[in-house]
Amino acid sequence: MVKKIKLDPIGTQTAIKTNDNLLSGLLKNDLNIAKECGGRGMCSTCHIYVKEGMESLSPMNRREKRTLGVVTTCRMNSRLACQARVIGEGVTVELPAGMYLSQIDDVEELIGRRAQQNILHPISGKVLVEENKLITRSMISQLKDTQGQVSKYLAQTDEIV
Ligand code: FES
Repeated sequence: MVKKIKLDPIGTQTAIKTNDNLLSGLLKNDLNIAKECGGRGMCSTCHIYVKEGMESLSPMNRREKRTLGVVTTCRMNSRLACQARVIGEGVTVELPAGMYLSQIDDVEELIGRRAQQNILHPISGKVLVEENKLITRSMISQLKDTQGQVSKYLAQTDEIV
């Protein structure tokens, strides 16, 4: 059995196997999802807003609740795409604006450029660099520090459920 999900604002519809997670549907559409934690429900890089059909998704588990609890852009309709399984029809999802720090291959290359979109923290979703802001050397060293902290966090909490 498959269920259809709609992706906003790009307007694409995609089919997803019943009980598969939303992340598989996003990836099928070639959306650039960082999956910083590898789909373990520990980061914000697969954070999505459910515009319709929240009742057609599996209930939140403890880890998802805890992770969303620190995501600064979390709303009532937030879910983590890697944890929410599709069990019914009528789901429409939207991705938060911006790109996550973990989607940048080489931060050094950004020196002297303007951010093309908001650069977001991979755990909290907080805006680290605003769109259009000129990226300086000191900002790069902060971004690198953040990358290091994120890796440490994900390694440390691996055992916590
Ligand atoms: S990929 Fe990290 S929480 Fe979903």
